[in-house]
Order: sequence, then structure tokens, then C-alpha cells
Amino acid sequence: MRIAIYPGSFDPVTKGHLDIIERAAGLFDKLIVVVLTNPAKTPVFSVEERVSYIRRIVEKLDNVETDCFDGLLADYVKLKGAGAIVKGLRAMSDFEYEFQMALTNKQLNPEMETLFLITSAEYMYLSSSIVRQLASFGADISRFIPDEIRDIIVERLRKAGK
Ligand code: PNS
Repeated sequence: MRIAIYPGSFDPVTKGHLDIIERAAGLFDKLIVVVLTNPAKTPVFSVEERVSYIRRIVEKLDNVETDCFDGLLADYVKLKGAGAIVKGLRAMSDFEYEFQMALTNKQLNPEMETLFLITSAEYMYLSSSIVRQLASFGADISRFIPDEIRDIIVERLRKAGK
């Protein structure tokens, strides 16, 4: 069975992430979307919230699972017996950071590959932080957040005053 891991902060998951999930799910027997800690970020949503939002939007995809892990991605990949990490690439600005992470992960676990899917053009400039910022100013975020979770995210960000 070919298993791939799609890791990220997903704070919150966006339509851009969902696009990568759907495309990656078509390439592997199983895709595990995993919420990990990015030490450079302070998330607004709890791990449980982020996992529950992802679960809701991947319900219709039979070969996609959602999980969380507090540790190194390379260890998680080993734990799950996966052969690949999938990442989405937007602008060139993503590249250097992703390149560094891919090479580091390869050092930690030489048996796995990192595969990059180029973002669909409509999501090129989309990010979770932009979504949080738009919502904080009361802007309509329906273009960026999957319908199933839009209302709960708007409400949650309003409460957080974010
Ligand atoms: O969505 P993000 O914040 O760009 O995702 C980054 C993430 C969470 C995948 C990355 O920070 C990560 O892999 N964190 C787990 C800890 C780890 O393995 N760090 C070493 C990466 S080289």
C-alpha cells in the first residue's frame, strides 16, 4: 500500500489545502493529513479544532485520514510506514523554506521522498494567516474556506477577536 503524509499547521485548513488533499489522494492508496507543531508559529485554533475541521471536509474522501502528532515529521512518517510527504507549493517565496525542510527530512529519514504539488492558480496567494486577517475585519471568506466549516470558523475567529 502506498501511503503519503500531508503535514502542516492548518490554522485553519483552507480551500487551497483541500485542493492539495484531493489531488494527492488521487495519487496514493492512502493519504494521512497530519496537524503538526510549527515552532515558528503560535496557532489560533487548538490542535483538536484543527483536526476536527479537516475531518469534516475530508469525510467524502475514502482514502484520507486525519491525525495529529507532537514530534518530528520524519518520525511520524516512519511510524506510519509512509513512503512520501506531500507539500503544496505556491509562490517562489515558499521554495527556499520547503527545500530546507525537504533536505533535512531526507537526512533524518533517507527512505522517504518529499513531493511538491504546484498550487492551483486560484489559490496561489491564499494562506491561513490571510484568511484569519480577512475574517478579523469582517470580510467574506467563503471563497477561501470550505463551505462545511465556514460558519464555525467565522464565529470562532470573531470570539477570539482575531
Ligand atoms: O503549514 P506549515 O506551518 O508550513 O507546516 C510546517 C510543518 C508543521 C510541516 C513543520 O513545521 C514540521 O514538520 N513540524 C514538525 C517538526 C519537525 O519535523 N521539524 C523539522 C522540519 S525539517
